[in-house]
Amino acid sequence: MRASAIAHPNIALIKYWGKRDTVENLPAVGSLSVTIGALSTETTVEFDAALKQDVLVLNGDEQPLEQGRLTACMNAFRALAGSNEYATVTSGNDFPTGAGLASSASGYAALVTAAAAALGIDPREPGLIDVARIGSGSAPRSLFGGIALLSIDEQGTKCRQLTAPAEWPLSVVVAVTTENKKDITSRDGMEQSRLTSPFYESWIRGHADDLDAAVRLVAVRDFFALAELSEHNCLKMHSVMMTTRPALLYWSPVTLACMQKITSLRKDGVPVFFTIDAGPQVKAICLPDALATVTSVLHDVPGVLRIIAGELGEGASVIGA
Ligand code: DP6
Repeated sequence: MRASAIAHPNIALIKYWGKRDTVENLPAVGSLSVTIGALSTETTVEFDAALKQDVLVLNGDEQPLEQGRLTACMNAFRALAGSNEYATVTSGNDFPTGAGLASSASGYAALVTAAAAALGIDPREPGLIDVARIGSGSAPRSLFGGIALLSIDEQGTKCRQLTAPAEWPLSVVVAVTTENKKDITSRDGMEQSRLTSPFYESWIRGHADDLDAAVRLVAVRDFFALAELSEHNCLKMHSVMMTTRPALLYWSPVTLACMQKITSLRKDGVPVFFTIDAGPQVKAICLPDALATVTSVLHDVPGVLRIIAGELGEGASVIGA
C-alpha cells in the first residue's frame, strides 16, 4: 500500500493556456513538450485505512490541501482503483517550487505513478492520464520521456511519447532568474485570460495548426523550423497573458535579456531557441553540440542566478516502496 516514484518536469514548446472545463480540468488545447532530465520530483504515496482525509507533505512541510487539487486527483484515482482509502503523499522537488519550472507537472506525474504502484495498478492503464490531468493539465506529459504530445478529444485526454530521449537528443538550459514563487498561478491566470483577453479566442483558433506543424517537424527532426514555431507559439501565449486584465506580465528585464541573447545566437547559426512559461525563468532548447556555448552565454547575462543544464529525461517511474 506504499510506493515511491520519480518524475521530471516538462516544458511545453506548443503551450497549454486555457481550459474547456475547470471542474474536470480539461485543457482547451493540446500541447507538446520536452521532459527535462536535470530536475526531479520524488513522491511517496502510502494508503492508510486509519486516515480520515488525504495528507500532503511538500518539501518537508504539511500543506493545506491546495484548493482541492490534490483531493480531486486522489478522488479520481480512488474511483479508477475502486478503493476508498486516503493516503499520505510525501513529495520533494530538487528545484524551486511554483516558480515557473513546472513543479505541478512532475508532482502529479510522480503522484499518479506512485499511487498506481502502491495499489498494483498497471502503469499503462489509460485512465491514469486523466487522473494526472485532474491534478494538473501539464502533468500527463511528464508521464512520458523525451518529447510528449497531449491531445484533447471528446473522450478526454490522450498523451503519448513522440520521440524517446535517444531518438532525438536535445539539451535544455534553464536560466534561473528568481527562486521566488510566482504571484499568479497558471490555474488562476489562464482562467482570467479566458474571461478578459481579447486575443484568447484567436489563440485557441490557431492552436491546432501549430500543434500539427510541430508534430510534423519533430517527425523530420527539423530543429530550426521547430525553433521558429516554438518561439512564435510561446510569444502568442504571452500576448494573451499580457492582454489579460489585470495584466499577467511574467517577464523580468533578465528574462528579456536572455531571450535577446538566444535569438542573436540563433542568427549566428547556433541551434537554440527560447521558451518561457508562467514565470520569469528562461528555458533554452538546443542541440547537444551547442550546450556549452548556450550555458556560458546565459550564465554571463547579468541577473541570471544560476543555470540548470541537461539532457531530455525519461518518463515517470517507480523507485521503490
Ligand atoms: C504556461 O498545467 O500548471 O506552463 O492545469 O491549472 O495545473 P493546471 O495548469 P498547468 O499550466 C501550465 C501552463 C504553462 C504552459 C504549459 O506547460 O503547457
